[in-house]
Amino acid sequence: MPSKQPQPQQPQSPSRPQQPQAQQPQSQSRPQQPQAQQAQSPSRPQQPTVLVGVTGCIATYKTCEIIRLLQKAGARVKVVMTPMGASFVTAETFKALTREPVALEPIDSHSAPIHHITLAQEADVFLIAPCTANTLNKLAHGVADNLLTTTALATEAPLLLAPAMNVHMWRDPCTQESLGLLRARGVQIIEPEAGLLACGEVGEGRLAPIDQIAEKTVAEFARARDLAGKRILVTAGATREQLDPVRYLSSPSSGITGYAIAQEAARRGAEVTLVSGPTNLPDPFGCRVQRVGSALEMFVAAQGAFAGVDAAIFSAAVADFRPETRVERKIKKDTNLDADGSLTLKLVQNPDILATLAADKGSTYVVGFAAETNDVLAAARKKLATKHADLIVANDVSNPALGFGSTHNKVWFVTAQGTEESALISKTALARVLLDKVVAAL
Ligand code: CTP
Repeated sequence: MPSKQPQPQQPQSPSRPQQPQAQQPQSQSRPQQPQAQQAQSPSRPQQPTVLVGVTGCIATYKTCEIIRLLQKAGARVKVVMTPMGASFVTAETFKALTREPVALEPIDSHSAPIHHITLAQEADVFLIAPCTANTLNKLAHGVADNLLTTTALATEAPLLLAPAMNVHMWRDPCTQESLGLLRARGVQIIEPEAGLLACGEVGEGRLAPIDQIAEKTVAEFARARDLAGKRILVTAGATREQLDPVRYLSSPSSGITGYAIAQEAARRGAEVTLVSGPTNLPDPFGCRVQRVGSALEMFVAAQGAFAGVDAAIFSAAVADFRPETRVERKIKKDTNLDADGSLTLKLVQNPDILATLAADKGSTYVVGFAAETNDVLAAARKKLATKHADLIVANDVSNPALGFGSTHNKVWFVTAQGTEESALISKTALARVLLDKVVAAL
């Protein structure tokens, strides 16, 4: 699987200046995962290496053209195939196209003794195109039963999957669940198109256009390790303000966006601290995660992590108010009532974490979010100024299909220089685009 942080230390060679995998500095804050030592390969070429995984379906022939496009963009391409892939297009074809040996058998007389490891280490980016439902579901669950899936499990390189399958296989809950797992781990899914499928049915499942696949793969060379050496703080999720032991004030924020940002930043080499309210999400790989409950707890944790970070991204839905007193015992419905039978709660203001910390931000690049139901851009511009942010990511939460809890969003990036509207994008893609902006600013 991709992006398990930290990346093994990769020896720098003066003869490989343009390798996108820069050496990652040892992080004192992540001592619990020992850095693997990678043997120096004297023959490692100077071009970025794209490992292309080929699985078996009718779209497999399109991989030949994808390889051509990647080569034109300057990549060295190596191919690893599943046995089913090789029954659609032969290994000989890929060998001729790449002028490299094609990896197919786990052990063969031509390959290195531990072939999946050498392939995994060589890859700067691992693209699987086409990726069948079978391989996609295996990857989600760590099944390693052929050279391609074993290599995917062993590699540290970013993984891109371009699925191609029948519409019902695509829509199957098992496939959709696997896609969710893979996305949450930072795997980039190049969504299939809807249209007439090889089986004669119509729907989603057709391999994405090959130029789009090549473009996204090439963009990944540039991103790999572009945040190496940077320290990033992310706040995420909703805070909980307890009224009593069994009730709290909160918001429906799922934390998906903040977790996607933290995961993507770690994947690109940053040392990430994620301060999170309670969520149902697993810890993103390679991040230092501090789980908190209330806004006050989040404030303390964020304050502790803020000093000296290169960028701070405040995506948490922080409750602006908390009950003045937290009742130690459960509030009963027939006690402490007003004369008319109602219950009055007094709420007091929580600190504004973003505004307070950013007031003294020095050179830290600060990103805030603005969840609005009306006058979105005016509110975002106001928050940009009052919260001392460099960038506000604004979204309209009045649309129930977007924002809270959904997998997709449409946002505006608001800076002092102007406003840019995004397309409707997945939250993983939003994380990628946002971090591209952070990289540019840093
Ligand atoms: N924020 C924060 N601490 C708070 C409130 C908000 O750090 N106590 C941050 C959020 O993480 C987000 C930004 O401020 O990055 C805007 O949050 P939002 O809820 O949209 O706005 P508020 O500041 O709460 O203002 P209002 O509710 O009046 O729109």
